[in-house]
Amino acid sequence: MSDPTQTARRTVLAAGAAALAGGTIAACGGGGGTDEPASEPGGASTGEPQASSAAPAAKALIKSSEVPVGGGKVLKEEKVVVTQPTAGSFRCFSAVCTHQGCLVDKVRDGQIDCPCHGSTFSVTDGAATKGPATRPLPEKKITVAADGGISLA
Ligand code: FES
Repeated sequence: MSDPTQTARRTVLAAGAAALAGGTIAACGGGGGTDEPASEPGGASTGEPQASSAAPAAKALIKSSEVPVGGGKVLKEEKVVVTQPTAGSFRCFSAVCTHQGCLVDKVRDGQIDCPCHGSTFSVTDGAATKGPATRPLPEKKITVAADGGISLA
């Protein structure tokens, strides 16, 4: 309990979750969720070596530590972009371009890029920052678990 690094990390994560979800942190017990033990064959897992006995309730899209500060990651399978505009603050947007529906393919310099016609969107709020798209990428609600796993809410 005397490791200042862990304490700082928990504080950052908690701040991020609170900023995003208004204090709603990923449900841990007490919920009435139907936890299906179904194992999906052929799924592209994120490389978990084995089924953990303490699996989180929701399937995490990505770990918070994998999302660069000031940038983000495009998750093609889920068709979402997870961003971290500022340290500890995470956002998630649809990866479907609001121009003609292509999937955005990368995040660079604080912008989410669409490869089809060059539109860009802000990692902060999904707003179109360069056309031809004019409408923002729709935001998706997410939760950040205590272990850093980011899931769709
Ligand atoms: Fe994205 Fe046209 S579909 S810029």
